[in-house]
Amino acid sequence: GSTMCTKIPIPCDAVIAHRGASYQAPESTRPAYLLARDLGADYLELDLQRTKDGKLVAVHDNTLGRNTNVAEIFPERADAPVSSFTLAELERLDAGSWFNAAYPERARDSYAGLKILTLDDVIDIAEGGDNHPGLYIETKVPEQFPGIEEDLREKLIARGWLGDDAGHWKPATGDAVKVADGAGRVMMQTFSKASLEALEKTMPDVPRVLLLWVGEGSIAPAPSQPQGDDESSADYYARQKVASPAAYEQWLDFAKAQGAIGVGPSTIQTDHDGAFSSQFSYMDLAEPWMVGMAHDDGLLVHPYTVDEPADFARYQQRGVDGFFTNRTEQLLEFLGHP
Ligand code: G3P
Ligand code: CA
Repeated sequence: GSTMCTKIPIPCDAVIAHRGASYQAPESTRPAYLLARDLGADYLELDLQRTKDGKLVAVHDNTLGRNTNVAEIFPERADAPVSSFTLAELERLDAGSWFNAAYPERARDSYAGLKILTLDDVIDIAEGGDNHPGLYIETKVPEQFPGIEEDLREKLIARGWLGDDAGHWKPATGDAVKVADGAGRVMMQTFSKASLEALEKTMPDVPRVLLLWVGEGSIAPAPSQPQGDDESSADYYARQKVASPAAYEQWLDFAKAQGAIGVGPSTIQTDHDGAFSSQFSYMDLAEPWMVGMAHDDGLLVHPYTVDEPADFARYQQRGVDGFFTNRTEQLLEFLGHP
């Protein structure tokens, strides 16, 4: 009906705090989300998984080895999937000390012993403070978490983030506007076509974005690795440009058919060392013609994961509609937010 569809309640230059302010604090932990919220991010980004006992948690990796002490606490299960742990087991893990070891220049004593968060914890954080950021939630492969979209819907309704007119939007107009902060600001994102379809079925009124990547089953095959020391980064990147307009359009068409309001393309980052970027296995799926094609289709473009002023500027020039960033503070500064 006309009462529920006005304008898309999404900022034009969305600041999406990727796993929280995860440059400054351990990803997906309380201080990372608190910092992102208090700095003024528009959205707290999180990767949704489900524990063995059915609790929704914010964890990126499929396993726990990279950013917890799982090997110490559960030596037999160091490579086991997150979904095989109960919440009580996850809560025994230290999800902060790895950061202090990896980034001594940004380490803080208070990061040691940080806990993995539930979705409820992240919602509590979003609801606290004065800024009231939205949530930008990624669902993972549906084969691994069948029914997680339904679980999420129930949780969001229980927490008052969905229901009545909350979360309604007008699809695919490209006519995004700034709106006041408020409850009910949920965005969904997924790399999975199947999950996008599930989101369309379970939460048709919640805006959703199809993430774009390169690899098997996506827009283009995974690029081969740099060919030794002989290949310059320019040649390597040139060789990667294998996403044809036809392939790109196919994915945009799929996104639109599922009622998505936008796409989230991978990017290639500026390389400060003159060597290949740490994200070299990605490719640039937000090239100027790609952003143009998405906009022509009325789709927003939220590239991931962009952290440097030079990259903000490069992609802003191409007209993107916001950024996933680990560096909330830097992006807000770039955008001239107070
Ligand atoms: O959600 C956008 C971006 O987060 C996708 O990559 O692997 O960081 O979840 P990833
Ligand atoms: Ca993500």
